[in-house]
Order: sequence, then C-alpha cells, then structure tokens
Amino acid sequence: MIEIESNVNLKQLNTMALASIAEYYCAVHSVAELTEAIDFAQREALALHILGEGSNTLPVSHVSGLSCRVALKGIEIVQDSQDTVILRVASGENWHQLVAHTVNNRWWGIENLALIPGAVGAAPVQNIGAYGVEIADVLLAVEVFDLQTLTQRTLSKAECELSYRESTFKGNDRGRFVILQVLLELSKIAKPVLSYAGLSELAVLADREALSASRVAERVIELRSAKLPNPTELPNSGSYFKNPIVARSVADSLLENFPQAPHWVVGQEVKFAAAWLMDQCGFRGTELAGGFQPYHLQALVMTNPKGGSYRDLLRAETEVIRTVASRFGITLEREPQLLG
Ligand code: EPU
Repeated sequence: MIEIESNVNLKQLNTMALASIAEYYCAVHSVAELTEAIDFAQREALALHILGEGSNTLPVSHVSGLSCRVALKGIEIVQDSQDTVILRVASGENWHQLVAHTVNNRWWGIENLALIPGAVGAAPVQNIGAYGVEIADVLLAVEVFDLQTLTQRTLSKAECELSYRESTFKGNDRGRFVILQVLLELSKIAKPVLSYAGLSELAVLADREALSASRVAERVIELRSAKLPNPTELPNSGSYFKNPIVARSVADSLLENFPQAPHWVVGQEVKFAAAWLMDQCGFRGTELAGGFQPYHLQALVMTNPKGGSYRDLLRAETEVIRTVASRFGITLEREPQLLG
C-alpha cells in the first residue's frame, strides 16, 4: 500500500526551493504502486501531477490534486553487441549517476551531458542538451504508462517529437504519459563531440586515440561547475529561459543593430543566446522581485537565494521578458515547467 499524505510542502522537492503546498502527495517505486496512485486520483476525482527530482519544475503556491513522485529504479542492458550497447533505464534513476555509470563502462554518447541535474525520466521531456549533444542523439524509445488508456506502451523516438528543449510530453500529450523507462543506444567506439569551445582542446587527445568518455565528462563537469550554481547550495532550475529561435529576417535586422550578438543558424532559423540578451539588459547578478537573481556568472540561470515565492518569481520573470522584448524585439520563453 502506498502512503498518501495531505498538505505536503514541496519546497525540498523542487530545486528552485519554492514553498508550495501539495493537496496530496505520494512517492511510487513500481508500476503497481503507480497504478494505486492513479486509482486514488480517479476515485477522489483529483488531478494527477508527476514529479521527478524537481530540477526543472516550478510548483505553484497551492498544487491541488495528487502530486506523485516517480522513483522507479534500475539500469539494465537489453542488447550488447560489438559496437553498441542498449540500456533500459528506469525513470527514477539520477541522470548524472547514469552518465557516471556509462563513462565508467567506456560507453560513448552521453558524456557531454554530465552533471545535468534531475531524473532520467525528465530527460526526454525537455530533450536535455549541453555542449553540442542532446538526449535525442542516443534515445531509441520511451516506455510509458498511458493515463488515457490506462495501459503501458512504448513510444518510438519519432513519437516523442523531440526538438530543442521540447517533446510531445511537454506539448500535445502534456499530462498524458508517465515515463517509466528510457531506452538509450550508446557506442563502444569513441565518438567524441568536441565542437563546443571549452571541449575543443581535447581534440588533440582524440587525434591520438587517447581520449576516454570519462575524460570528456570530467571536462564538462569542470566547465559546468565553473559557471553554473549547484542547486543544493543555491536554489535554481538551470536555464530559466530557452534560447530564442527566430526567422532569418528577424535575425538579420537584429544583427544589423547588434552584430556582436552570439547566434547560431538552425536550418531556416537563427538561435540567439538568451544569456547574452539578458546580460546586455544588465540582469546578470541583479536582484529582482523576491530576491530572485540571474546568476552572476551565467545570466540565464535564475537563482532563489532569499526564499522568494512563486508570485515573486512571476514578477521577476515578467520584468526580464518585458525588458528584453523592448530592447531586442525578442520574447523569451520560460524553460522549466509549472506544476499545478
Ligand atoms: N553569455 C553572456 N552572458 C552570460 C552567459 C553567457 O553573454 O551571463 C553568452 C556566452 O558568452 C555565450 C552565449 O551567451 O556566447 C551562450 O552561453 P553558454 O555557452 O553558457 O550557453 P547557454 O546557451 O546560455 C545552453 C543550455 C545549458 C547548457 C549550455 C552549455 C539552454 C536554454 N541552455 O546555455 O543548459 O548547459 O548551453 O551547452 O539551451 C539548462 O538547460 O538548464 C542548461 C543549463
């Protein structure tokens, strides 16, 4: 029997440390327990909200319904061939520990994604990415519990509709699926992705075939630790806004006025660095409503050093969005997801 508690403070369950009261809360460790939670929600006519490690989730002040933390564990090899290995990883595993496990086994594919906070099940939701790699590069399929049909099913990678920080889990099918397992295909043959500035120095080792996945992960950990605050020390949810992607025509006129703006061509469109846009507006290290503060070393990371509330956060966010829009004509979009 699962334990369902009422009026639970979610402050410890979201890395932004927003104080939030969940009407009901439970943690589930198996599909059987998840089914129990679903039954309870249906019986009591409650909305069901799924939580992972809360590193990309912003709970509103009162979350009505049942907030359910999915804590399924297990890493399993489902196929082991000469060049590749296919892993089936439970959604409640910690993402960084998975990366550590894979690089220790000399498997390539997710070493650039070291130190990203959060649970494995959250990774496909926003198609996590860093240093030139995203989970879409290695994802084969996602096993889910479909709350519409109350059955388990497997979604192919195509069905997950992954794009930059987006997926069907955030989009058309928001709230429909509980992610249970993630299937990843990793390589036993060296496949370093070193295009990102801070990693290119490792190319010398790669040329000599003396580079390991764990060496790449170590460098990524150094880069991240130097610039990104540890959420256990300074509450934050990672990048607070997505890097905006605009049409070429919009980009061209922006670049006429701000030729130095960091940008990347993505197909027919152009992606700008939200951190740079915020920085130009003077937001880096500046205190906003409720003490919320874009981190002094990386403006895109909104931090919560003073225990600000959800309401304060919305005021801080609105100020950033308005200011950036009036200066650059670009509307930033929040990246973490609201709960409730
Ligand atoms: N920049 C500034 N001011 C700042 C910070 C950065 O002008 O305060 C400039 C940098 O000089 C650089 C550009 O902005 O030219 C981009 O900065 P950075 O390389 O730090 O990456 P980002 O675009 O801000 C993205 C991801 C991060 C990921 C890094 C590294 C998004 C929303 N964020 O950040 O992911 O770690 O690249 O690959 O795509 C996350 O999603 O939570 C996250 C941390």
